[in-house]
Amino acid sequence: MTGRAVPTLASGDLVLRPWSAADAPAVLRLADDPAARAWSASLRPVHTPEQARAWLAGRVGADRVHWAVSDSATGEVVGRVGLHRIDDEQRDAEIGYGVLAGRRRTGVARGAVGAALGHAFGGLGLARVSLRHAVGNQASCAVARACGFTLEGVERRRLIRPRARAARCRQAGRDRGHFFCSPLSR
Ligand SMILES: CC(C)(COP(=O)(O)OP(=O)(O)OC[C@H]1O[C@@H](n2cnc3c(N)ncnc32)[C@H](O)[C@@H]1OP(=O)(O)O)[C@@H](O)C(=O)NCCC(=O)NCCS
Repeated sequence: MTGRAVPTLASGDLVLRPWSAADAPAVLRLADDPAARAWSASLRPVHTPEQARAWLAGRVGADRVHWAVSDSATGEVVGRVGLHRIDDEQRDAEIGYGVLAGRRRTGVARGAVGAALGHAFGGLGLARVSLRHAVGNQASCAVARACGFTLEGVERRRLIRPRARAARCRQAGRDRGHFFCSPLSR
């Protein structure tokens, strides 16, 4: 599958750039954390360099734009953010993100999500970006609120985790400034 172009974006002290094969060790650092394994289905099974390379390969595709989020001063990868399930006809996509454990609560997610949304509504011309987080993931819920998403509802049996019979997730949507109360009411 041909990958979509991934532009390099600046956001305060952060640089969002395309992933490269050399980032496998950074992916392992992002995955090696209880919260990342608890809440990120894609990073949960990443334990080895080979699995990290497979994860990197999965970030590339015609329906996705995924960035490594780096510290502009040091170049260190401090997080990840990505748009996936990009649908050019419906003009919508979903967003996902994660931050290195030692760099949390310093505005990395807010900055990275803000920059990714700028590209979604700007360069990609999307009208809507959806964000799904597990009901128990309060940090992700706080990021959604901080970045202007509005809660649209709770979905049952989404984001199923191993050994969990059923999980619920919240869906939040953001568009160019007109918030949806519920997608079902439109
Ligand atoms: C969720 C996560 C990405 C947040 O990243 P972060 O860089 O710490 O978030 P920020 O510092 O940008 O914080 C953004 C807002 O959320 C709030 N917030 C962040 N973590 C919080 C927490 N644990 N509890 C309450 N509020 C929190 C911040 O206070 C900030 O709000 P404010 O700007 O109004 O003060 C990070 O905790 C993480 O990587 N978790 C594991 C992976 C994950 O859950 N990914 C999302 C899956 S849906």
